[in-house]
Amino acid sequence: MKPMRKMLAAATLAVALTTGMTVALNPAAAAGTTLKAAAAEKGRYFGAAVATGKLSTGAYTTILNREFNSVVAENEMKWASNEPQQGQFNHSGGDRLVSHAQANGMSVRGHTLLWHAQQPGWAQGMSGSALRNAAINHVTQVATHYRGKIHSWDVVNEAFADGGSGARRDSNLQRTGNDWIEAAFRAARAADPGAKLCYNDYNTDGINAKSTGIYNMVRDFKSRGVPIDCVGFQSHLGTSLAGDYQANLQRFADLGVDVQITELDVMTGGNQASIFGAVTRACLAVSRCTGITTWGVRDCDSWRGSDNALLFDCNGNKKAAYTAVLDALNGGSTPPTTPPPGSGVDTSAWYVLINRNSGKALDVYASATSDGARISQWSRNNGVNQQWQFVDSGSGYYRVKSRNSSKVLDVSGFSTADGGAIVQWSDLNGTNQQFRLANSADGYVRLINRNSNKAVEVQGASTADGGNVVQYADWGGNNQQWQLVRIG
Ligand code: G3I
Repeated sequence: MKPMRKMLAAATLAVALTTGMTVALNPAAAAGTTLKAAAAEKGRYFGAAVATGKLSTGAYTTILNREFNSVVAENEMKWASNEPQQGQFNHSGGDRLVSHAQANGMSVRGHTLLWHAQQPGWAQGMSGSALRNAAINHVTQVATHYRGKIHSWDVVNEAFADGGSGARRDSNLQRTGNDWIEAAFRAARAADPGAKLCYNDYNTDGINAKSTGIYNMVRDFKSRGVPIDCVGFQSHLGTSLAGDYQANLQRFADLGVDVQITELDVMTGGNQASIFGAVTRACLAVSRCTGITTWGVRDCDSWRGSDNALLFDCNGNKKAAYTAVLDALNGGSTPPTTPPPGSGVDTSAWYVLINRNSGKALDVYASATSDGARISQWSRNNGVNQQWQFVDSGSGYYRVKSRNSSKVLDVSGFSTADGGAIVQWSDLNGTNQQFRLANSADGYVRLINRNSNKAVEVQGASTADGGNVVQYADWGGNNQQWQLVRIG
């Protein structure tokens, strides 16, 4: 495969643990200090995939119990694990996870009842009606064993092909007949009527042939009354995020199913934190996106090895990606303290930004169009690399987009340090790409970054062409003040 949740216990929350979890929102919600608390303030859960063998490792379990309120077994509820011989079930691993979850106020996602991979050898060797009967018996037996304990089941996992066909994946299960998926959903509903029943897949992180194939199946199931409640988007991500990630979630939600981010991990790199933040905001923007699960806890727990794809490093420290997710979850409850200028900015206009100290213009150095290119000041020439548009991020924040490159001002690497570089980067609407306009005298404004709360300035109050543009603590200096000159 390509890389591709009583502590909630806040008195402000009503928690019902039966087959799952219900969260009542406190209208005056405060910012959460853990992933699960911040997510709960937004009516969502925050989960992790768990290797049950690690539950006896204190460093691991401390983070799990502090930050997460939903768990899913990384491997122990797969067919090869829990029915190693036909008709002989071993639920020890899954039972251990369920016990841990129940003892710690966590809900459980079941993963997965049927999948083309990780099948026991005996099933791999079967076909036709024998395999179909064995598969449906597996669904019935496992869902019955866990009846009342699973919030949501990944009933079927990864049944669609990669690439442009939008078709089902060829597999022994598919060869038993195209109705194998709906048969599995009907069997799961009969065995555990209280569990939400989900379809789960990867490479569905935007509107593409594969996600559209799944979309058509879900629409068909809904129209024919096949029981399906939710769709999981695994979201094993690389170094970029599809621009229509949120729109894709929304189109599924519009079919009348809940959606969840079920296996989130992101390749390490300059924009790892940005992508984690953008995914979180996308989920929050879709009312039927009910929660996010990361596929593991610490980088070293991840199936992606050296990708360092998770929110905690191997020592259990919170990474920038963690802060990006927590900030995104808290996003709605931390409004800016300074409103935009009374006149506001026209988001359809193009502006040249003139520094008060140097009289020079904010400039993409050498008209670069690449991610990471430096931003400097240069003598005003009204070139397209000196023209900027304010793109509304809501709550009084804007991205500042270059006319030349269509990239936006970005505090490199989510730095919160004085001197942190201002570069241009693809628009991910990260908090390190969002700025509010703070008023200075005479119509000048300071650009204050949402993530760091620092101001965009000309480093060292340089007056030279090529002078470096960085962030620095907001002290209102002339080199932190910019005049917005509308030119288009
Ligand atoms: O436990 C055995 C060990 O005894 C043996 O020595 C070793 C030899 O390779 O294998 C171990 O089992 C491995 C198991 O993970 C536990 O570590 C399997 O080989 C290995 O294939 C299995 O990989 C899992 C993979 O699914 C396949 O089932 C990954 O941990 C797990 O993260 C991954 O999770 C999948 C989701 O279920 C579906 N979506 C994609 C996601 C990532 O691939």
